[in-house]
Amino acid sequence: MPLLEWKDEYLLGMEALDYEHQDLFDCLNQVYEQCSRKADYDTVAGCLGRLHTRLAAHFALEEKTMREMKNPHYAAHKAEHDRFLDEVTGAVAVFGEEFDHEDVDKLAHGVQQWIVRHITTFDRQLVERGR
Ligand SMILES: [Fe+2]
Ligand SMILES: [Fe+2]
Repeated sequence: MPLLEWKDEYLLGMEALDYEHQDLFDCLNQVYEQCSRKADYDTVAGCLGRLHTRLAAHFALEEKTMREMKNPHYAAHKAEHDRFLDEVTGAVAVFGEEFDHEDVDKLAHGVQQWIVRHITTFDRQLVERGR
């Protein structure tokens, strides 16, 4: 069973962002799956690296979109992206030295909670502006 299941209620109606959100779910599920089957360091690190890269790219696209829309919540939203990316970067860096499946599993659950909360609050504001 995947860690995170996509639901259409997460859709924003903005194609590129919706596509990337689903891709982030896939990346996170791969981390979880490889971790659950106790894959070796290179495999799990590869999945984590991919998740990290896609997160960074997604935040960049979303922030660009917000600037173009002149979204009034830009500063707070970007600060939340920056804070979370720093957290994930720090966690991934630690795994380079000490690899433990349980720690990766904990990180995956933390990312899962953050992504769902973030998409349904901060990201939702992108399309609820003015309503
Ligand atoms: Fe966001
Ligand atoms: Fe997003």
